[in-house]
Amino acid sequence: MTETNIVQRRQFLKSTAAAGIGLLILPSGSLLGANAPSNKLNVALIGTWGRALAHFGAISSENIVALCDVDENHLASAAKKFPRAKHYVDWRKCLEQKDIDAVICSTTDHTHAFIANWALNRDMHCYCEKPLANTVEEARVVRATYLKKKKKLATQVGTQRHAKPNFERVRELVKDGAIGELTDAYAWGNRQLRRSGYPPARGEPPKHLHYDLWIGPAPWHPYNPEYFKGGPGSNCLQWNMYWDFGTGQIGDMGSHTIDLVWNAIDADVPTTAQGEGEEYNPDVTPVELHTSFDFPGNGWRGPIRVHWYQGGMMPRSPKGYVDLNKIGHGAMFKGSKGYIICDFDSRILLPFGNDADLTYYKGRDKDDVIPPLGHFQAEWVNACKGDLKTHCDFDYGGTAIETMLLGLVAYRVGKKLEYDGAKGRVTNSDKANALLSKEYRKGWTLNG
Ligand SMILES: NC(=O)c1ccc[n+]([C@@H]2O[C@H](COP(=O)([O-])OP(=O)(O)OC[C@H]3O[C@@H](n4cnc5c(N)ncnc54)[C@H](O)[C@@H]3O)[C@@H](O)[C@H]2O)c1
Repeated sequence: MTETNIVQRRQFLKSTAAAGIGLLILPSGSLLGANAPSNKLNVALIGTWGRALAHFGAISSENIVALCDVDENHLASAAKKFPRAKHYVDWRKCLEQKDIDAVICSTTDHTHAFIANWALNRDMHCYCEKPLANTVEEARVVRATYLKKKKKLATQVGTQRHAKPNFERVRELVKDGAIGELTDAYAWGNRQLRRSGYPPARGEPPKHLHYDLWIGPAPWHPYNPEYFKGGPGSNCLQWNMYWDFGTGQIGDMGSHTIDLVWNAIDADVPTTAQGEGEEYNPDVTPVELHTSFDFPGNGWRGPIRVHWYQGGMMPRSPKGYVDLNKIGHGAMFKGSKGYIICDFDSRILLPFGNDADLTYYKGRDKDDVIPPLGHFQAEWVNACKGDLKTHCDFDYGGTAIETMLLGLVAYRVGKKLEYDGAKGRVTNSDKANALLSKEYRKGWTLNG
């Protein structure tokens, strides 16, 4: 396909979807419409096993034109489902394939920002599994690329729990004043994956695994089968706690859980960040951690403070009879007239104080509740062909992970950081600024 053909094809996909064209029969007898071959997205799957399997359903009616995985066994297994796709072991080569419209990235965390950014740079839509980035700089680079291209590209960070109706019910309660003036928000997760250090060298990588490409932009660590012994969709728990590959629970369950708060506060990046937790380990990210942030007011609320707790550190319960420890991954909102406590599926309202009579709050009429998102992956597929709008685009998801990662920097520096969100710089610590980014292995560039 020539460049002009590709552009014309993408415009056609958008215009048929935007016009709501269901099916057109042309005089020649050929079909146009949602199910016509020409109205399908050409999708590349980068990472084809594990979490990637959760995407097969939503995209099985599209054209899967490229499969890329560093493990040839995983490639072969995905090829059974998508036999017409070309195969790659290096995502940089994959992204050279000219007919790709859209990319789904389900690889290791330390490659997400690279793949997402390279895809956007090539005008490909992108769905990127959480976390979108491993450093503040990565989050900012991907977000900036997206903001430049948002009029032509659809993005989604893989926080699919966002489609649960409870997310919007919590937002409505907070925004509509069920707890009065919002002052604080808290999110926490109890997952604890303790390790002492990188696994030592053990054995040789099997022939089907391109281990050098698995390491990719990260500093070199010798092969150990430990990194690969997990089941499909949970193998990330074999590597995501090591600094060079992941960010521990910040990027893991933290991406999902902070989303409960992020969806309800309409925030950009914070002005301060603080962090405390267990002793710093240069190999392994902390299990016990508490980070907190100041956010300025916006059009509907005053300034607020937001907290993230993990690994056993917890916010204080507002009342002894509410045991927050019974909520493994949850959030709490504090307002001038009470609290909302929630998990992904349910919520409780706790009016608090002598004047908390709820007269200041009226629930929404049925017609005014926020409409359901529908199927999360399908939202992105439709957005690629239509209005480009998704709930967790790289702006929304980018600011959320930038904030969380800034907290991890504050933990490492051990002091309250003042943050200039416009510039992406800490104004009171050189040490912190040095930790906002990473050096990559030779041959790998974030902005390629
Ligand atoms: N949204 C969710 O609920 C959810 C659930 C599980 C995992 N995840 C995310 O999905 C990602 C993958 O997790 P997983 O448990 O499937 O991990 P995994 O280690 O099993 O890797 C997934 C696949 O990617 C391949 N891969 C790894 N590095 C690659 C590279 N550089 N290029 C091409 N292929 C590569 C692996 O060989 C494997 O087939 C993680 O980032 C994780 O955070 C999200």
